[in-house]
Amino acid sequence: MLTALAHGASVVGKTTLLAMTMNFADYNVGMIKIRVPATSANLGPGFDCLGLALNIWNEVSFESADRITYHVTGEGGEKLNKGSRNLLTKAFILAHDVSGKKMRGAKISAHNEILMSSGLGSSAAAIIAGLYGANEMLGKPMNKNEILKLANEMEGHPDNVAPALFGGLVVSVVTGEEIITRRYEVPEFNIVIVKPNVDWPTRTARAVLPKSVSRADAIYNIGRASLVVDALRSGDLELLQKVIDDRIHQPYRLKHISGGMSAYKTAKRFGAAALSGAGPSIIAFVPAEKEEQAKAEIMWAFEERGIHACGLITKPSMKGVFCVE
Ligand code: HSE
Repeated sequence: MLTALAHGASVVGKTTLLAMTMNFADYNVGMIKIRVPATSANLGPGFDCLGLALNIWNEVSFESADRITYHVTGEGGEKLNKGSRNLLTKAFILAHDVSGKKMRGAKISAHNEILMSSGLGSSAAAIIAGLYGANEMLGKPMNKNEILKLANEMEGHPDNVAPALFGGLVVSVVTGEEIITRRYEVPEFNIVIVKPNVDWPTRTARAVLPKSVSRADAIYNIGRASLVVDALRSGDLELLQKVIDDRIHQPYRLKHISGGMSAYKTAKRFGAAALSGAGPSIIAFVPAEKEEQAKAEIMWAFEERGIHACGLITKPSMKGVFCVE
């Protein structure tokens, strides 16, 4: 599978050329439109294991064509339209490679609402959109677990791609052979997200982490991660607030994010707060009547340090990626 990934990740140009000179299998459908949700990973102590789908969506249409083209409107459009090499088209081509089908070409048009480089799973959404879109066009040669395996290989960890695929709260465990997932429904929490305008690539956010953790910190996280799942499933905001703390990634990351620690502490005054994924966004689960004030004050915690921030209010999504038409 890794061979297929390396191949798929490096053949965008070559495959396009081939598509113009060889006969390719027809797609099962002429056009599809899909929606894929944002996701918030880790949820405090559940580093690389827990993720929640959010009601923020990218919409992508795929139309059968003689060559592959890609155009994005909305979030990140300017950056994404600059080159043909992007995660979505790589994933689209990879799904063809591993399904043993030659890619015919597709006109891919996306409208993105998920903020990029924010900790809201924009790369996971792109990967899932490409794999799922291709799979639908090809008549579903892969089941969702096979899509998840490929997505995990591309992303490196399953905690965003799994909820982007299945919706809801997903616990993922990677074993040698498979990725075991359990999906849970959660109540309609009120969620505040605040994203500071800082440069914080996931690569850097992972590089600042220690290579090993102490037994005490491992114990601290294991119990809390288990109870975060229980608190989210039962809608127990009070419990969530007590157990969403973490010792294996947040302390190392927050000190590098300008205004991050202050914003995090502010968010904790309103409810249960964490870094969303690797950050830099802060996610807070707050009572409905406090969401506007929480958003404003968390934003202000960044702004008063000269860091521009944007905020949004959302809910969990029980739906993962799906076909609109
Ligand atoms: N679990 C991942 C991390 C999520 O914290 O690095 C971001 O991709």
